[in-house]
Amino acid sequence: MAKDKLGINTVCTHVGEVADDKFKGAVSPLYMATAYAFEDIDEKRYPRYFNTPNQQALCKKLAALEHAEAALIFSSGMAAISTSLLAFLQKGDHIVLQNTLYGGTTNFINEEFNKFGIEYTFINGSQVEDFEKALQPNTKVIYIETPSNPLLTITDLSRIAKLAKKHNLVSMIDNTFASPVNQNPIDFGIDIVMHSATKYLGGHSDILAGAVAASEENIDRIFQLGKNLGGTLSDYTVWLLERSIKTLGIRVKTQNKNAKKIAKYLSKHKDIAQVYYPGLKSHPDYELAKSQMNGFGGMLSFELKEGLDALEFQKSLRLIKSVMSLAGVESTIMSPVLTSHALISEEERKEQGIKDGLLRLSVGIEDTKDIVEDIEKALEKVKSQVEVLS
Ligand SMILES: Cc1ncc(COP(=O)(O)O)c(C=O)c1O
Repeated sequence: MAKDKLGINTVCTHVGEVADDKFKGAVSPLYMATAYAFEDIDEKRYPRYFNTPNQQALCKKLAALEHAEAALIFSSGMAAISTSLLAFLQKGDHIVLQNTLYGGTTNFINEEFNKFGIEYTFINGSQVEDFEKALQPNTKVIYIETPSNPLLTITDLSRIAKLAKKHNLVSMIDNTFASPVNQNPIDFGIDIVMHSATKYLGGHSDILAGAVAASEENIDRIFQLGKNLGGTLSDYTVWLLERSIKTLGIRVKTQNKNAKKIAKYLSKHKDIAQVYYPGLKSHPDYELAKSQMNGFGGMLSFELKEGLDALEFQKSLRLIKSVMSLAGVESTIMSPVLTSHALISEEERKEQGIKDGLLRLSVGIEDTKDIVEDIEKALEKVKSQVEVLS
């Protein structure tokens, strides 16, 4: 059956299995070898060359999920992002990025690009017109993240792709928040799709990995640098990641459903000042999100009403864990100001609209009523503390 005719859950379950011709096992065998005998010098296998049996098989699954010709798996999301960026940028080049990005990506650029002689411009927000205004004669790459972290703004994929093509630039997206279940940027003309596979692809908060999907030509360019930088993933983790992705479709669809219900509940709650979720009709980019996403995702952010302490609220939660990461089957919460965006200056955070009391919720697969009850009880506790103090 043609791969593009398969449903997403079938792709997750079956595409990119390592054939077990000898024993006919139901799952991929794991090849941990770091040394492989070869007959042809051009066909030598070595884990750092991204070509072990398990890596090659999983790359097929990732490529199928992102509607791409090819893919590569890395040891972390940042290995995938940094290798991809450096593969397309050299001394004297320029890149335009939105300022609402994963904090680690922003730090990588701020801390490292000057020493490589690469120029960069962070635009305020995610409007295509602002990307265009920031282009320079030496611009080579446009980099977006949509939905963005942590305010869930949406960037127009088709218009960014057209802009990049018009100026002969490479367009790159961090598609981590959406996952391939909810968004396939290549269908809109974006060139390179990156993931922190630590998040939805792994999905159980126990794997650190990264992925890139693109055309054969672009993946080959990233591979040429990747084999020198050495950020490949151990085969045992590749095998675990393949197992995790088998349930990606059902996990993410449940997370989408739960997040929408919780966003609606929070948006009507008298103790909540603001909810950021692209699936709410009140979200400024709702129509755009609807036009380019298959689902609105499991991530949302919110602010408590003035006077309610966000940190105390977080501490009062029992079911929802306070953690740095996101996208696991369990619901988790974090304060961007205290974690992912802690290294960004207060002024920059203000410019991006990230308030001190902002909380980012990664909705899991639990029963929604239990998540709601946890939030409700924590709010009651925080309010009772305010009453005692006043
Ligand atoms: C949106 C996004 N992109 C990239 C990364 C970096 O991924 P990793 O931690 O796997 O290196 C993260 C990590 O939190 C992220 O949230």
